[in-house]
Amino acid sequence: MKKKLNIALMGSGFMGKAHSFAWTLVNKFFDVPYEPVLKVNFGTDEDITREFAEKWGWEEISMNWEEVINRDDIDIVDIVTPTYIHKDMAVAAAKAGKHIFCEKPCAVNYAQTKEMAEAADKAGVVNYLNHNYRRVPAVAFAKQMIEEGKLGTIYHYRGAYLQDWVMDPNFPLTWHFKKDLCGGGPLFDLSSHSVDLARYLIGEIDAVTAVNKTFIEERPLPGKRAATFTAGGEVNSEKGKVEVEDASFMIAEFENGALGSFESTRFASGRKNYNTFEIYGSKGALTFNFERMNELQYLNLDDPADEQGFKTILVTNMTHPYAAWWAAGHVIGYENTFVHAVADFLKAVEKNETIEPNFHDGEKIIRTLEAAALSSDEKRRVEVSEIK
Ligand SMILES: NC(=O)c1ccc[n+]([C@@H]2O[C@H](COP(=O)([O-])OP(=O)(O)OC[C@H]3O[C@@H](n4cnc5c(N)ncnc54)[C@H](O)[C@@H]3O)[C@@H](O)[C@H]2O)c1
Repeated sequence: MKKKLNIALMGSGFMGKAHSFAWTLVNKFFDVPYEPVLKVNFGTDEDITREFAEKWGWEEISMNWEEVINRDDIDIVDIVTPTYIHKDMAVAAAKAGKHIFCEKPCAVNYAQTKEMAEAADKAGVVNYLNHNYRRVPAVAFAKQMIEEGKLGTIYHYRGAYLQDWVMDPNFPLTWHFKKDLCGGGPLFDLSSHSVDLARYLIGEIDAVTAVNKTFIEERPLPGKRAATFTAGGEVNSEKGKVEVEDASFMIAEFENGALGSFESTRFASGRKNYNTFEIYGSKGALTFNFERMNELQYLNLDDPADEQGFKTILVTNMTHPYAAWWAAGHVIGYENTFVHAVADFLKAVEKNETIEPNFHDGEKIIRTLEAAALSSDEKRRVEVSEIK
């Protein structure tokens, strides 16, 4: 019998679903040391939380997050709330000695990420920041190829994360548009993932030059069931001010000499979750598009010049990363990446080991994004180290 670990899920929205799925499935496909127990779900609306908990099998619900975090029977605090409260919940969880699994972006500003990392270090708890795209098998395989030297010297990183879910001017003014709740628009929401991938795959960013743009300045206030990424839905007749950008473009200078660009927008018609990267090196290139997440495109400059071209690698072999699911060619999806993250997290908890990305990675990512926001505000190049 595996030891049981009690989970407290803080939030019951879009990510609440993905995380509930992962805690439920992890033991069926991965050899993990614990059996997670879906103990208690904190939510802000009692009806929605109760419906959610019943559907996903959470034993109890609570409307009081501090009480939940401080319960003696909770081992892991899983934070899936709007970004502004990640810091308070993570610091409280660290003080209570709980291991922490937290959604991205880490927090709404660099100062908060530092507090989170300090609190987790001081308490010696395992902390994981869920930039889940690192755990797409094709992305983890790209990392292996780069480490094996298949791309040689890296010259360019191009990260584009494009969506179109808020193009309707009547899409409600959910927390995603309020700066104090989310930290920023697609810069924080989407480029946080792209910067995480770039740091993971090729290295640290030293300086940025960015332009942010807001296309729709006012939106209707949300109704009760409007506040989810997928639903849009219910709106109020009153309008409120949009406080964040709708699109953010950034040029990045990497510590290793590479030059990069990052585009993130919620106004790219037809792009749904178009999270892509292109990496160009002296020996070859790799490109990835999450909407084709089982595939990686690879160009090898050692191929005879007349035969050169990008080939598609289907990253589903039993020798590829996270090959615990089906047989080769039996493709997997978005939800599986959360199971990978939970599996790695439980292994780290058993050994009390560091897992990446964590709150220290969050610090570096948010510092870069704050530098980009400053660059856009002041219309100048900003060194990441300027952000204190
Ligand atoms: N890794 C990914 O792919 C991914 C995708 C989407 C969202 N996210 C992140 O997950 C987090 C949650 O996003 P979501 O899309 O699930 O949001 P959501 O709006 O669907 O759900 C948030 C939940 O948090 C709770 N909540 C709402 N308002 C709150 C408040 N003021 N204080 C405390 N709790 C509150 C509620 O239970 C709500 O259901 C965010 O940080 C977001 O950036 C990550």
